[in-house]
Amino acid sequence: MFVFKAGVVGAGVMGGEIAQVIAAAGIPVVLKDVDQKFVDAGLKKAREVTEGQAAKLVAKGKLSEEAASAQAEKTLQLITGTTSYDEFGDVDFVIEAVPEKMEIKHAVFAELDAATPGHAILASNTSGLSITEIGDATNRPDQVVGFHFFWPASYMRLIEVIEGEDTSPETAQAAANFAQAIKKMPVRCHECPGFVVNRILVSTASEIWRYQDETGIDVEQLDQFITEKAQMPMGPFRVADMSGLDTVVKVARDMREAYGDRFYVHRGMEEMVDRGELGAKSGKGFYEHS
Ligand SMILES: NC(=O)c1ccc[n+]([C@@H]2O[C@H](COP(=O)([O-])OP(=O)(O)OC[C@H]3O[C@@H](n4cnc5c(N)ncnc54)[C@H](O)[C@@H]3O)[C@@H](O)[C@H]2O)c1
Repeated sequence: MFVFKAGVVGAGVMGGEIAQVIAAAGIPVVLKDVDQKFVDAGLKKAREVTEGQAAKLVAKGKLSEEAASAQAEKTLQLITGTTSYDEFGDVDFVIEAVPEKMEIKHAVFAELDAATPGHAILASNTSGLSITEIGDATNRPDQVVGFHFFWPASYMRLIEVIEGEDTSPETAQAAANFAQAIKKMPVRCHECPGFVVNRILVSTASEIWRYQDETGIDVEQLDQFITEKAQMPMGPFRVADMSGLDTVVKVARDMREAYGDRFYVHRGMEEMVDRGELGAKSGKGFYEHS
C-alpha cells in the first residue's frame, strides 16, 4: 500500500515531530489536536526541526542557503494543522500520539474508525499498551498496529512495528514499509508490555531510579556521571524530563504492574507529576526549562 496522505492525532512531545518526519519524506500529513494552541505548538516544533535540519545541510555545504530554505518551506507546506477530523477522509495511514491512557486511545480509535476511509491503517505510538485492546475500539482490528517512535522522533531512526493478536500480516508489512518510506528502521515484534525497547530501557532506568531514591544522590550529578562513564548523550533524568514525566511515570507503573517489583517507579518523579511538574513541556521537572 502506498501512503499518499497520512494523519497524526496528538501534537504533543511526539506528534509534532512525527508529522515533521512524514512531511520531510515528501508525504502530506494532517496534524490534529483538541485545541488550536496544542496544534500551534506541534507546528512550531515541526518548523524548528525542519529549519535546524536545513541549517545543518547549509553548514555541511550540501545545499545553498536559498535551496535549503526552499526545501524547508516545501516540507512545512505539507503539514496541515487542525482541530477536527474533516481532513481525515482521504488518509491512508494514521499515527495516534495522544496520552498513554487506554480510555483516551479508545475514544480516538473509535473516532478514527468513523472518520477515515475503510482501507486506512490505524497505528498507535503507544509506549507499551496492548495493541489488541486498542484495536477493540474499531471495526477494523486487523488494520490496527503499533508504530512506536522514540524521542526525539526526528532524530531516532528506530520504529517498533507491533502486531496485536488481530493485526493482519498485510497491515504489519505495510506499516514496516511505511516506516522505511519515512526513512526509519522498522523492527517488528509481537505485543507485550513495553514491547522490546522500553522493556530493556525501563528495566535499566529502574535500577538508576531506585539507587537515587535510596541514596538521595543529586540528580544532575548522577546524570553527569552516567553520560561521562556510559558515553550516553543524556542522563536518564534529563531524558525523562524531555520525554514528559507524566508519560514516563505511566509507562513505569504499567511495567511494574506487568512484570512485578524488578521494575521500579521513582518516588520523586511521582510527586513531581502530582504537583504538575512534567519536565520540559511544563517548564519544570528535574531541571528548569525555558
Ligand atoms: N514522550 C516520549 O518520549 C514518548 C516516546 C515514545 C512514545 N510515546 C507515546 O506517544 C504517545 C504521546 O506521548 P506524548 O509524550 O507526545 O504526550 P503529550 O502529552 O506530550 O501529547 C499528547 C497530545 O495529545 C493531545 N490529545 C489528548 N487527547 C486528544 C484527542 N482526543 N484528540 C487529539 N489530541 C488529543 C493532547 O492535547 C497533547 O497535545 C503516548 O502514548 C506515549 O506513551 C511517548
